[in-house]
Amino acid sequence: MKSDKLREAFFDFFITKGHKQIPSAPMIVKDDPSLMFTNAGMNQFKGVFLGDKTPKDLKIVNSQKCLRVSGKHNDLEEVGHDGHHHTMFEMLGNWSFGDYFKAEAIDWAWEFLTKICKLDQERIYITIFEGEASQQLDRDAESYNIWKKYISKDRIINGNKKDNFWEMGDTGPCGPCTEVHYDNRSQDERKTLPGGDLVNKDHPQVIEIWNLVFICFNRLSNGTLEALSNKHVDTGMGLERLSMIMQNKDSNYDTDVFESIIGKIVKITNIEYGSDTESDIAIRVIADHLRAVSFSIADGQLPSNIKAGYVIRRILRRAIRYGYSFLGMKNSFIYKLVPVLVSEMSEYYPEIEAQNQFIQDVIKEEEEAFLRTLSGGLKQIDEILASGGKNISGKQVFELYDTFGFPNDLTALILEENGVTYNQEEFNIEMQKQKNRSKSAAQVKTGDWNVVLEDEKQEFIGYDTLETKIKISRYREITIKNQTLYQLVFNLTPFYPEGGGQIGDVGVISSADENIDIIDTKKENNLIIHFAKKLPSNLESEFLAQVNLENRQNICCNHTATHLLHQALREILGVHVEQKGSLVSSSYLRFDFSHFSKVDKEDLKKVERYIDKKILQNIPLQEDNIPLTKAKEMGAMMLFGEKYEDVVRLIQFGGSKELCGGTHVSHTGELGLFRIVSESSVSAGIRRIEAITADKALKAIEEQDSLLSHIQQIVKEQDILQAINNLVSSNKEKDKKLAALRNEEIISIKSKLLDHVIKVNNIGFIAQEVDLSAEEMKNICFDLKQNEKNLVLVLASVKENKVLLSLFVSTDLVDSGLDASSIIKESSKAIKGSGGGQPFFATAGGINPKGIKEAFSIIKQLLSK
Ligand code: SER
Repeated sequence: MKSDKLREAFFDFFITKGHKQIPSAPMIVKDDPSLMFTNAGMNQFKGVFLGDKTPKDLKIVNSQKCLRVSGKHNDLEEVGHDGHHHTMFEMLGNWSFGDYFKAEAIDWAWEFLTKICKLDQERIYITIFEGEASQQLDRDAESYNIWKKYISKDRIINGNKKDNFWEMGDTGPCGPCTEVHYDNRSQDERKTLPGGDLVNKDHPQVIEIWNLVFICFNRLSNGTLEALSNKHVDTGMGLERLSMIMQNKDSNYDTDVFESIIGKIVKITNIEYGSDTESDIAIRVIADHLRAVSFSIADGQLPSNIKAGYVIRRILRRAIRYGYSFLGMKNSFIYKLVPVLVSEMSEYYPEIEAQNQFIQDVIKEEEEAFLRTLSGGLKQIDEILASGGKNISGKQVFELYDTFGFPNDLTALILEENGVTYNQEEFNIEMQKQKNRSKSAAQVKTGDWNVVLEDEKQEFIGYDTLETKIKISRYREITIKNQTLYQLVFNLTPFYPEGGGQIGDVGVISSADENIDIIDTKKENNLIIHFAKKLPSNLESEFLAQVNLENRQNICCNHTATHLLHQALREILGVHVEQKGSLVSSSYLRFDFSHFSKVDKEDLKKVERYIDKKILQNIPLQEDNIPLTKAKEMGAMMLFGEKYEDVVRLIQFGGSKELCGGTHVSHTGELGLFRIVSESSVSAGIRRIEAITADKALKAIEEQDSLLSHIQQIVKEQDILQAINNLVSSNKEKDKKLAALRNEEIISIKSKLLDHVIKVNNIGFIAQEVDLSAEEMKNICFDLKQNEKNLVLVLASVKENKVLLSLFVSTDLVDSGLDASSIIKESSKAIKGSGGGQPFFATAGGINPKGIKEAFSIIKQLLSK
């Protein structure tokens, strides 16, 4: 069965069991600081499991794009070396939110695998949780008894906490799990050793295919387990692994999921798959990483130097490096695989098709940049090798890695080929130091929630109300870089939490006894969290919560301006313009969008005029909560990588229609004025505009006005432009005259210099301190080269207490063995400096003007030898 059909069969099966099918959530996580990527299907339901969010449906089925490349679940280094690990994979899941539990979950899993997939029952093994006394967790006898209905006891194996108690991270929802394993070995192999002996033993053909997790605890930060009020089911089955079994293959990479991608790699590289272990690994790495990187870009995460963007960059670089080292690919080629991926996967994941070209552009630019880095690194290695040593320091290898992004295993490989070794231990120490540096910069310690008020539903009322009475429902302490902060949750709140590019509100909560500043507001899963430096002394008081009005109004202006800017750019530059990122703060807005070239000044002016016109029209805000399908019909702008509910908030200002959760002005007139401050490039195919509105924009205009009147006072003319033009051309004239005069002066200095020749060892020698620039001294020396014979000239000039020596040796003396470069090296010690150059001309810089005379005499002595 092809993977597409398998996914469909899974959906159909669970739909007949009363489940609702939902689409995959984006792979990039936006509202959980503990995660960068979706690493399990359950991530998006964390709030539901913890009781912070009420689910719309109690039974659902989906296929989730997952990425396991950081944190607790990280498979990156395994990928490529075996046939069943991936960075990105699809996880088929059926879910119960407080509805069915173990019996149905197991019954249906068995039915699906044996009736729909028709797997050989004799090859299935089950693991169940054996219990853990230290945590007072019992053996999962209930699951054991259910499985016993279907499968003989000897094929139900006890598993420990590591394998059979599933946790999403150090904290959060968790519970015992029962796993389905499948023995995919040949019949002969199966006869020699029972599959049960190989379960959870890293055997490539006896593998876990489905994990049924019974979520019933929350792991607290102190390590204890708190029972949840409801019991849930979270199952996850790797589509790629199931496809391997269903298609009778030995590796996921041999299934239809990877077939055409690998076919294309083979075609481009001319290297057969299956011909050599190293190139096979490289082909698998590239096929796998192509999917991870393409889907991340489609979900809005571009490669960059920080956080999630950095992880994506590293994955892509890993693929480039394997191509470079093992497939001989010295030019970009991975981007050419994107159309194949698109044609394979776009039916279920349309986002990838819509951004086909964009993904190719981004990958191509990254490839080219990294290939340049690789060749820069190679040059460095050549220099290291040229220095002749057979042992080099680990520090040097680390420097190549850290500064040039040059991978150390590749360095090691090249060094090995040249019979050079490096100090691995020293490298490890440097690496550890770097890790410690980034760890302490990022460390956040989060305490557990302390509940103040039970059973209150938190509500956001900040679209219409900026001041209200609230109560604190829970709080916790966090430590960021040694600073302690408190996170407060209210029963209802007017504070907008950071999201959709808009920064979080600030303000104050006050009771009769005290005022507590709210310094930021963020959303975590489904909770709105207010940050304070101080914890209220009486947590149970009623507080008046007030959003800082001026700050909020500025944010609203900038957010509405962002929508108008999006509209203007699509009108003026074309509908290929799509938002790729934004920041809406109270002081400015930043808008990243897809566009292939620099936006010229004229178009930027048009954009400003377009938006100013919308401001003058004072268009009213129209805000509606409507079904997603209707919003799509209306042509509302939607963003890739956003998770939309069935009912969405549509923000309209005339023709501008965007799905948006942010806050806006009630009429465009409130913006007053819109001004672009900069236009720049972010990466391949992405431009960035930064702009200001309202008071900020007016202030910028005032500043320009006052600058102009200042200039007018200086030039003392009505027509400033004419006056400045006159100044510029008269300056040019003067510069020309000055240069001519200086030339004459230099000619005279040169001829005077020749009057100072003395004979040293029969060589004409001149040593003079002069008031010339480096360039001028050089010109004199180069000039002398044409006509002078038997001459050594050394010039010294001092500028800002720094000495510059220039040494000239005439060609005939060079021919007879004199070398300006080695002479200057010797003499530069006197001026506490260093130097070098060519045999006929060399320079040195130093910090000791008092040593000039000594430098001259060193040269003289060298000539006398
Ligand atoms: N949460 C479990 C896993 O990721 C099952 O979905 O394996």
